[in-house]
Amino acid sequence: MTITERTAQGELGLTTVLIARERRAAETRVAATPETVKRLVGLGCNVHVEQGAGQAAGYPEGAYGDAGAELFDGSAAEATDRWARADVLLAVQAPQAGSGAGLAQLRPGALVMGLLDPFANRDLIGTLLERKLSAIALELLPRISRAQAMDALSSQANIAGYKAALQAAAALDRFFPMLMTAAGTVQPAKVVVLGAGVAGLQAVATARRLGALVKVSDVRPAAREQVESLGARFIEPPVMEQSPGEAGGYAKEAGAVFLEAQRQLLAPHLAEADVVITTALVPGRPAPLLITREMLGLLRPGAVVMDLAVAQGGNCAASQPDQETVVDGVRVIGAGNLPASVPFHASSLYARNLAALLEYVLKQGGLTQLDPEDPLIDPCLITHQGQCRRADLSPVAQEVAA
Ligand code: NAI
Repeated sequence: MTITERTAQGELGLTTVLIARERRAAETRVAATPETVKRLVGLGCNVHVEQGAGQAAGYPEGAYGDAGAELFDGSAAEATDRWARADVLLAVQAPQAGSGAGLAQLRPGALVMGLLDPFANRDLIGTLLERKLSAIALELLPRISRAQAMDALSSQANIAGYKAALQAAAALDRFFPMLMTAAGTVQPAKVVVLGAGVAGLQAVATARRLGALVKVSDVRPAAREQVESLGARFIEPPVMEQSPGEAGGYAKEAGAVFLEAQRQLLAPHLAEADVVITTALVPGRPAPLLITREMLGLLRPGAVVMDLAVAQGGNCAASQPDQETVVDGVRVIGAGNLPASVPFHASSLYARNLAALLEYVLKQGGLTQLDPEDPLIDPCLITHQGQCRRADLSPVAQEVAA
């Protein structure tokens, strides 16, 4: 029996889904689009959308109404009422404490789904526990094939990689492509990409499309084939006993000796580079430091470093979140939230990820039957009905409780 049929028979009950306007600075994305609202309504959900929620992403209010959503205004009384009635809150980022209606208004047992950044967000953990809420942090979703349609990190990293290459090209004092003109030939830009995951490979593909020569460093041997298939050159990682290796498709954390050897190996490539796009990351760990301040001196003045790992501490020592820092004439750009600069498509993909995950939860029988041990749900369900479910978040939970 389909979910809609089960809902019609009263087996699952109606699920009220809330989409509020994102209130964090510079967040332009929205957690549901008219397309996904229609899908959720088809699954038997009541969908409440705050007026203006999709405006910055280019989704007009009328389209949400046409898709079957109930729109509400953001006045304090109205918002408080809608938050209190919600079973599920779909969000891009975690709602900020103290911004009017918010998590504190949700009823105990309600489910919050979004890119919640749980390790950096102490207030959030406190509120989730205090209000006995359940929460799914999409960044902790396992990268298994069954979860591909829900993989928000990949959908957003793809956009970030694309935009990183474009922003670097716009910031550079040279052309990306080779140009043959009557006034002579212009050589193509040289781009180095550090980290060949989702963001890195999209940055490679985009820089190649713009005509740049691209070299790529990664520590996973499997990355070589993907890099070469995009027409870029692979920079071999250091060969040594302490090589980090990989587990479950992710690199393991490299030790200090390995990283030092890697920096030495990268030095001559940086010295030739016009642009460096850095995306190296080991999940749950600080980003590896691949460009020290001294190494910036190897790059020519006018060169551009785009650090996408800035939120995890940065692959470059000089990068600052959402800021440009100039060191010896090198422009170091800490690219904080690139998907928000492509809000229409970033929202469209993210909303589909969320809808697929919510559909999965509803198929399990809804919130009351949610199986916390389900292999797909287990790693990303950070709190369940007020209990902290991840050992690595327990210190935060204990600190908040103290
Ligand atoms: P990913 O996990 O798919 O890729 C990371 C890659 O770095 C992996 O291929 C890994 O093997 C590689 N790596 C690890 N250690 C390395 C080292 N020492 N040297 C070279 N490569 C190394 O991650 P994804 O999704 O591609 O994201 C990459 C980064 O971009 C992350 O820091 C992520 O948070 C960030 N990001 C930033 C956005 C923004 O707007 N600034 C948006 C989306 C992602």
